Amino acid sequence: MTPTGPSPDTPRLYSDLAWLWPLWGDPAGEYAHFARFVAERIRHHARRPLETLLDVACGGGKNLFTLQRSFRCAGLDLSPAMLALARNLNPECEFVQGDMRSFSLDRTFDAILIDDGVSHLTSRPDLAAAFQTAFRHLAPGGVMVVVADSTAETFRQNQTEATPAYPGSCPPGLDVTFIENRYDPDPADERFESTLIYLIREHGRRRIETDRFDLGLFPHSFWRQTLAGSGFDVVEESYRQDDVEYPFFVCRKPTQRNRGAPP
Ligand SMILES: C[S@@+](CC[C@H](N)C(=O)[O-])C[C@H]1O[C@@H](n2cnc3c(N)ncnc32)[C@H](O)[C@@H]1O
Repeated sequence: MTPTGPSPDTPRLYSDLAWLWPLWGDPAGEYAHFARFVAERIRHHARRPLETLLDVACGGGKNLFTLQRSFRCAGLDLSPAMLALARNLNPECEFVQGDMRSFSLDRTFDAILIDDGVSHLTSRPDLAAAFQTAFRHLAPGGVMVVVADSTAETFRQNQTEATPAYPGSCPPGLDVTFIENRYDPDPADERFESTLIYLIREHGRRRIETDRFDLGLFPHSFWRQTLAGSGFDVVEESYRQDDVEYPFFVCRKPTQRNRGAPP
């Protein structure tokens, strides 16, 4: 894919304000905990030797920071600004710019992770396209993990969270607080909006920036059926962090031998 500039719909966090992303969540903290769990579940379910992993919508590469200890990793993302951060954090990994709905690489991977970036897909055909694209890039017997940040069942209306930059992440003179409000203005459709306020203090001077994400909100059954419909054997597990339970789909690509056998 030819690199292009950000579209007007690109969240500022993935373009002009991407420099804030490294301050929001510690790669060696909560991301490492999650990534170790992902690696363990992939090892448990795989039916092939595991060497390579592709992180789809890898963002700033915080999951890759830990996953690269278990796999030879590549990351794919739409945003050049986020890919630059990911490269900086993980110089050993390979990075590709692409759209998760349509990328085409000339190889397969033993494992694939689709994490929070998938929330940015706001239509059923887009979600299906992302899973079918991933299926084509997974080797038989390999495992893809898909994590749903929110489903129609788990979404909580008008939820607001304020998170300070994690300790030690800000250079001297800088302080940042991330305020996020999740709101569904039209419960009849399958999307909601996340409004972000970045409260930035530069040498004591206050600066406020705002941002908005349009995010998809699909029923749990749709995730499962679409993954199965894309050809995967699906096992549902869950991942718990900070008292929140996230649907965690382990999706194996059948080999010729186990096609039709229970997962
Ligand atoms: C919250 S960030 C992911 C952070 C990541 N989990 C990490 O470990 O740093 C979400 C990412 O999804 C990417 N994204 C959104 N839509 C995409 C698409 N259609 N294809 C590829 N990447 C996409 C954004 O560019 C952004 O970098």
